Amino acid sequence: MVSRREWLRITAGAGAVLSLNPRVLEALQSQEIITRAIPSTGERLPAVGLGGANTFSRVARAEDFDAVGGVLRALLDGGGSVFDTAAGYGASEEVSGRVADELRIADRIFWATKVNVAGRGGRPADPTAARAQIERSFERLRIPVIDLIQVHNLGDPPTQLGILEELKATGRIRYIGITTTNGRQYPTLADVMRNEPIDFIGIDYAVDNRLAEEVILPLAQERRIGVIVYLPFGRSRMWRRIGDRPLPDWAAEFDAHTWAQFMLKFVVAHPAVTVATPGTSDPEHMADNLAGGRGRLPTAQQLRRMIELVESLPSA
Ligand SMILES: NC(=O)c1ccc[n+]([C@@H]2O[C@H](COP(=O)([O-])OP(=O)(O)OC[C@H]3O[C@@H](n4cnc5c(N)ncnc54)[C@H](OP(=O)(O)O)[C@@H]3O)[C@@H](O)[C@H]2O)c1
Repeated sequence: MVSRREWLRITAGAGAVLSLNPRVLEALQSQEIITRAIPSTGERLPAVGLGGANTFSRVARAEDFDAVGGVLRALLDGGGSVFDTAAGYGASEEVSGRVADELRIADRIFWATKVNVAGRGGRPADPTAARAQIERSFERLRIPVIDLIQVHNLGDPPTQLGILEELKATGRIRYIGITTTNGRQYPTLADVMRNEPIDFIGIDYAVDNRLAEEVILPLAQERRIGVIVYLPFGRSRMWRRIGDRPLPDWAAEFDAHTWAQFMLKFVVAHPAVTVATPGTSDPEHMADNLAGGRGRLPTAQQLRRMIELVESLPSA
């Protein structure tokens, strides 16, 4: 439950007078948080979290500690917990780790970061460099145990997943996984899902980008692998496509009152999805997104209607 007074306290660090959409406040106050179980353990996570690349890493790079603190506090106080970052996201790991430590909120965050010293699925990874990068992540995040480390962009999976498996066995990492947001790499991703003992994958999925529905999401269900959805808005793609169109009235039938909630409810409605981590640098957007992880989800018929609507819009 978040009162208006509480909201002002949460976002005070953002350095601006923020006005929360009354619909968002109402959702945060009265609607149940949607949670999903991590298939390998049953541990439940709130279905909407925060992505630390893109605009978030920009405010981190500018060392805008107030902005980073405002977004992280909005994540937690609105009922979220998963924060997705990566060694490769510039200042994102270091600044979020420092701010969370200073605000004493680090233990309320489910920390998901990534390793990659191999580039985008190209050259072999140097194991010494991979281990050094992982150690730097521990230092930057300032925590003794990292909840999830994934191999970023399918970079040399045998080498880097092998190192993650070792660290998981020692208890320094709780879960391991692998990511790609490039549909052309899905066949390789599927091979890894069939052959490696991973807990999570991270992939791209959105109302206008549904390739993952064909093989990857059903395979995740079959292999009991958790799914983190990246790019639920396609970065700026969906925002350009929507433009200033009003949200249709029927979105209220599944408790979506903004386009962000519409798009998040679409991805969270897929039963294979564990959590979606939209990126933001704005506490109000964070609250809006968290409201997309509460209340009713669209039915199969409503999902079809959502796709029809989006496909009727001109491509961005
Ligand atoms: N291969 C990989 O492992 C991989 C690849 C890509 C992404 N990722 C992860 O996925 C996360 C999400 O991806 P992304 O951040 O690139 O794209 P995204 O979540 O699809 O879109 C982010 C964009 O949407 C805006 N936005 C967020 N919430 C909004 C709201 N409620 N209303 C209006 N605009 C809103 C953000 O701007 P504002 O800051 O103004 O809110 C930003 O411009 C990344 O941060 C990263 O953690 C992983």
